[in-house]
Amino acid sequence: MTFSVASIRKDFPMLAEKINDQPLVYLDSAASAQKPLQVIEKERQFLCHHYAAVHRGIHRLSSEATAMVENVRQQVADFIHAADSEEIVFVKGTTEGINLIANSYGHGFIKPGDNIIISQMEHHANIVPWHLLAGQIGFDIRILPIDHDGKLIFEQLDRLIDSRTRILSFTHMSNVLGTVNPAKQIIAYARQCAEQKAAQLHILLDGAQSIMHQMIDVQDLDCDFYVFSGHKLYGPTGIGVLYGKKALLNALPPWQGGGAMIDKVSMTLFEPAIINITYEKAPWRFEAGTPNIVGIIGLGEALRYVNNIGYQQISAHETTLMQYANQRLSTVNSLRLYGSDERQGVIAFNLGEHHAYDVGSFLDNYAIAIRTGHHCALPLMDFYQVPAMCRASLAVYTTKEEIDILVEKLQHIEKLLA
Ligand code: ALA
Repeated sequence: MTFSVASIRKDFPMLAEKINDQPLVYLDSAASAQKPLQVIEKERQFLCHHYAAVHRGIHRLSSEATAMVENVRQQVADFIHAADSEEIVFVKGTTEGINLIANSYGHGFIKPGDNIIISQMEHHANIVPWHLLAGQIGFDIRILPIDHDGKLIFEQLDRLIDSRTRILSFTHMSNVLGTVNPAKQIIAYARQCAEQKAAQLHILLDGAQSIMHQMIDVQDLDCDFYVFSGHKLYGPTGIGVLYGKKALLNALPPWQGGGAMIDKVSMTLFEPAIINITYEKAPWRFEAGTPNIVGIIGLGEALRYVNNIGYQQISAHETTLMQYANQRLSTVNSLRLYGSDERQGVIAFNLGEHHAYDVGSFLDNYAIAIRTGHHCALPLMDFYQVPAMCRASLAVYTTKEEIDILVEKLQHIEKLLA
């Protein structure tokens, strides 16, 4: 398919909306991407003609819906180049995926006195679950630092990893700085350090941001776990994916209990009752309760949408756009950019000493949607010694004209606030 941003924009009805009688300039896709008609229509079709509970009935609708959901599992496996569809667990999103690993792997394998490593550029979803767990189990959390350009100083893994390091969990791409971490190189280096220290280390890669910008091959990356959310990939909210290597997933205990994740349950009537339970194998062991069936169907359509355009074209478009944005934004006198010019997907900035909320509110008056605040990454705000930042983010449907409007309005705000 020939890449045409104009025709792609026609797929996204939200992009034709007006705010304050001005055309919407949507530069907040890193928080959540807009949805193409294909995804919206697929969900509608499914709800109108195919909807039923999955994994629960032998009636035709249930069997068909189950097959459709399991087809999406295979589609996800193909999309991220997993070896087997049983390595794909449906979760609510990145946050739930990390919580699942923290709780299941954590209670199964991390002992008091062990340690784990996260990085200084993580968003709260990759900090808080580990902190909660460390309080329960009694292990240390070690921090892989960044340099001033917002790049991980990953050589420090040699210092941080010791024989009791169980998890390295880090982001593939910073949601604030747009730094793309050389994940394959970092993972290989971490494994080498772990081998030297005889550590039984497992590695979780947070793909919340990377999934929308680059092709993912979990086998080539050699991560043990990879997580992402559907809503940042032009799909629905409330659905995401946890990938885990098959043997490892099957070694993990369940984390939430309920229907659909059990093999057998029996109980005695005498007191105290004895309840015996055996669990399903992975991935179903981790999918207690009725899943987000419609979300899964929508996710499958979002993957098809992205595949039809192709990551090569998406990446070429976004790289050109980012170079343009770097250059254009540098013409705003008092603008401070954070991170390095090699950033992808997101651009974080502040305008002079003005609080990001003020700048964001002015931009909102001009129908420009950016994210403002701490971006769920307070340690990064501390690192740059600011309370908040503005963040514009790019997607497959973003145009140069939108960057021009952002720059023009920032220059205008600069004058107004002078
Ligand atoms: N999902 C959050 C963001 O907007 C962390 O980057």
